[in-house]
Amino acid sequence: MASARGEFSSRFGFIMAAAGSAVGLGNIWGFPTQAASNGGAAFLLVYLLLAFILAYPVLMAEIIIGRHAHANAVGALQQIARGPFTRRAGALTGRVGLVVASFILSFYAIVAGWMIAHCLSSLASLAGAAEVAEWLTSFSFGRNASFVVVFMLLTIGIIAEGVHDGIERWSSRLMPMLLVTLGSLVLYVLTLDGAMEGLAVYLLPDFSAALSPQLIINALGSAFFSLSLGVGTMLIYGSYLNDQENLPLLGGLVTGLDISIAVLAGFLVLPAMYVALHNGVEIFNSAGELISEDTLIFLVLPELFTSMGLAGAFLSALFFFLMSIAALTSSISMLEVPVAYAIEEHGSSRRSAVVLIGGVITGLSLLILLNFEALFGLVITATTRYGQPLLGFVFCIYAGWIWRRDALLAELRKGSPEIAGTLFWRIWPWHVRLVCPLLILGIFAQNLLG
Ligand code: PFF
Repeated sequence: MASARGEFSSRFGFIMAAAGSAVGLGNIWGFPTQAASNGGAAFLLVYLLLAFILAYPVLMAEIIIGRHAHANAVGALQQIARGPFTRRAGALTGRVGLVVASFILSFYAIVAGWMIAHCLSSLASLAGAAEVAEWLTSFSFGRNASFVVVFMLLTIGIIAEGVHDGIERWSSRLMPMLLVTLGSLVLYVLTLDGAMEGLAVYLLPDFSAALSPQLIINALGSAFFSLSLGVGTMLIYGSYLNDQENLPLLGGLVTGLDISIAVLAGFLVLPAMYVALHNGVEIFNSAGELISEDTLIFLVLPELFTSMGLAGAFLSALFFFLMSIAALTSSISMLEVPVAYAIEEHGSSRRSAVVLIGGVITGLSLLILLNFEALFGLVITATTRYGQPLLGFVFCIYAGWIWRRDALLAELRKGSPEIAGTLFWRIWPWHVRLVCPLLILGIFAQNLLG
């Protein structure tokens, strides 16, 4: 029976929604360019290792706590607390998480707006409307603000429909579309001149670059951002799962999909850069390094597309459409965090919570746009470098130290009794208790020092 608070109706729906949250702008342009400048396949190996030793266990902690409590992060952490102090600290952690999720959405909506604008700009070029196309790629307040509003309206519209009709239905439609678009773009770009050179840079490992301590810390941070950890997104999605689901399997599938799509995006972005080089577009800075991520996506790729004429405009529209979808399935998961809290802890109706909170976050985005130089980078650093790792640390402490061990194991066994004899069963509780918090503290310390 579907519960009154909403539930995913199928395993497929949950996987699409959770993978949709994880797969976002971070995967498609963050990961490939980082890999390119940091040792190619060697970076990939480090990233894979970290995803499985850190990100997957923390993801599991969030999903298990959420499914056990069938509540938002504030309610859930209070449920597994053991006394007044841990109850209050749990409620505080949940609230900080929803504030961080809201701030992540406020900058994410700006970038996602650029993606939609670039997509429409390519369509406008195809239609011969050069002036409109130019305005759509101009960095004006009017353009930026309009597309923040467009993107937030899409996010608000989906979340207003609820867990099944909104999140699940739209993720199940958009994620397969994303996969097909990404796959087709990869296949096409690999046929172009220069693509193989990019592929070589991506696939030939350079271990000297990939094994530096700074780089390991970076890969750890990106794995964390990539799986949407710490802010309660995965916890709230887990809370909409029924008790029959096999959680380690679902968590493994979501992690696997997230990583596979990041790796697949590397087969698009790296070859595309070298195709651009082949077409005379500059891809290295004066120091001989690959240019940075944002320049790559908003300068190199559009130049590449322009140099390819009509086919280029079509490809460009497709590429930015792909980015917009990836962003939308992530943004809905961010908005659901504060909305679920308002519904469950303050008795709001879903519609009024979505409109009010969505409106406030849109206001925050506009505020950032008005003070772009000062606020944009600051909000990204505060939320992703500090907020997410620190909150992830607290989740590990709750799963590993505060929650009663037998209750945790009983929750894990619910949908997967066969897991009792496996290695996962014996390792994971200790791992999330000791290894994960220490690793996260490591990242955090490094962030503070570096
Ligand atoms: N995982 C998303 C990405 O890789 O783009 C970003 C993200 C989504 C971060 C949801 C945090 C979050 F709660």
